[in-house]
Amino acid sequence: MTIQFNDETFRDDYTFRNSPWAIKRFPFPFHEDSYMYSVNMERHRGGPKGSVYEKRFDVDEHYLSEMRDRALVLAEDPLRCQSLPHMTLAGWDLLELIMVAKSEDYPDLFELHRNGNAWRWVNKPMGIDHSFTFLDDATLPHGPMEYITRQTQGDFAVLDQRDDNLWMDAGMVTTQADWSLDFDIGMNFFEWHAPVPLAHEMGVFQRALKFLLNVQQGSPARRLNWTMTVNPLLDTSPENYHKWGIQKTELTPENVGAKQHLRVELQTFFRLPRSNALVFPIRCYLIALQDVVSVPKWGRRLHRVIRDLPVELATYKGFVRNRPLIVEYLSQFDDGLPTSDGV
Ligand code: HEM
Repeated sequence: MTIQFNDETFRDDYTFRNSPWAIKRFPFPFHEDSYMYSVNMERHRGGPKGSVYEKRFDVDEHYLSEMRDRALVLAEDPLRCQSLPHMTLAGWDLLELIMVAKSEDYPDLFELHRNGNAWRWVNKPMGIDHSFTFLDDATLPHGPMEYITRQTQGDFAVLDQRDDNLWMDAGMVTTQADWSLDFDIGMNFFEWHAPVPLAHEMGVFQRALKFLLNVQQGSPARRLNWTMTVNPLLDTSPENYHKWGIQKTELTPENVGAKQHLRVELQTFFRLPRSNALVFPIRCYLIALQDVVSVPKWGRRLHRVIRDLPVELATYKGFVRNRPLIVEYLSQFDDGLPTSDGV
């Protein structure tokens, strides 16, 4: 299928829009009318045709604009991409995983030609045709992780596995829900999750880590996470909080449907072959509330979830102040009917 790429912005004038196709395939994350943290993980082995789960690395209409936004973030703040010295091999593993997956899954857009270690990578949408030597850093313009993640939607945390734990020793993080790679670099699974409320006491992180330590090569896993963002901002980082935090005060009953966005992360987990590292791609999908409610069962359900969400979660996710406004807006689309017809 040929994708029509949008020319849009995720800052300043915010021209980001979802086409009807993007709304239809949006990964609406709620399976019931309420929400609480859980170890919501499953195998990542494809999904219905056209869905965001179908391919290993989903490419959609926002691809080129998201890559442009990433380049802007990196130009302002190079520390959004970091790799500790022992993670270079994992970077090559990741480059291989993505190049193989994209060239197999989107042969009309990406090509990979391999002759021993002499590789040629063609990225048609971005106009790249590059020959290099696999495992030779000197033949790429950036390190291998940075090279390939400048061409792939979503953030990436690359975790070293040792001492029965995972360590955030590399990453490309420019589209994050208010956390910082520069702060978390070198931390382990429990340390970087420390700010999350309630989940530690529930044992969520102990069970999740056990699962992750056993992810095998060729058997990736996935889960969804979600939050709320005012304006279609990709870069909601602590580093730039002074720029975007203030925008939360700009919501009104008139503009909430257009400005308030549901932000869903498709998080996947892949074991890497040579380094035994685990890569954690975090793909962010944004949708305005006015587009959510165009699907009646989503509108009903989102109203109930947001209305009844424990205050600790609404606070951590950063929308407790605007919750009354959001609930008031969504309540217009909740006719009280059951949502048991699924999502
Ligand atoms: C939040 C990273 C896997 C559950 C977070 C945060 C980070 C993070 C950086 C933000 C913490 C902050 O506020 O500073 C990662 C990485 C993972 C991983 C790198 C892969 C190794 C998981 C898994 C679960 C999980 C498998 C399964 C339950 C959560 C939850 C939150 C969270 C519930 C709070 C999210 C929210 O309410 O919006 N994670 N995580 N994480 N993580 Fe993970």
